Amino acid sequence: MTVALSKGRLLEPTVDFLSRAGIQVPDDILSSRRLIAPDASNQYRFLLVKPADLPTYVEYGVAAAGICGRDVLLEVAPDLHQPLDLGFGRCRLVLAGKKEESAENHNLLSTTRVATKYPRIAEKYFRSQGMPVEVIYLTGSVELAPNLELAEKIVDLVETGRTLRDNGLHVIDEIAECSARVVVNRASFHVQHAEVQEFLAKLRKALE
Ligand code: PRP
Repeated sequence: MTVALSKGRLLEPTVDFLSRAGIQVPDDILSSRRLIAPDASNQYRFLLVKPADLPTYVEYGVAAAGICGRDVLLEVAPDLHQPLDLGFGRCRLVLAGKKEESAENHNLLSTTRVATKYPRIAEKYFRSQGMPVEVIYLTGSVELAPNLELAEKIVDLVETGRTLRDNGLHVIDEIAECSARVVVNRASFHVQHAEVQEFLAKLRKALE
């Protein structure tokens, strides 16, 4: 069974969690540049992919299942089963800005410029608030934008809060709570039923 794993921040806790579930990812997966590797028993084959691409690999059935952050699922909105919240990788998706910016002093009629790695989430949030928005898509270091006046606000992930603090920003509103989720391809859920259920059972056991 092929399982896609998210590279980056989630990889280390994901490997730890799989090991607690009795699935041994190769020791060198965190240090090597290999993008595909089997587990110790050869029952699983792991693909290491960019977090934002993970739903695509699972939706197209290249991987039967995957582990990624809820932030990615909210942004991509893939058509996948989402059977499990694994609880680790907890963080918050927030609207943030400079200290003088707040939810209260916002003029509802003026268009806000928002820099983000999550354009769909940002659009949806502002629509839900009835506020006009211009979304500026960036792929990282989003916290720079308000200080350089590229945008007034940002929509981004906050884990420890350190990046916001170190860049003189603060949380204006919380949009969603995130953590690592298991996703399963809809066809694989039926076609590889026994394998998928066995995989999920191992993960559920590690959550107990
Ligand atoms: C993420 C996120 C924030 C930061 C939050 O970025 O986009 O910038 O982590 O973490 P903190 O609250 O613990 O400081 P990442 O480190 O993945 O890098 P990026 O900005 O290049 O995307």
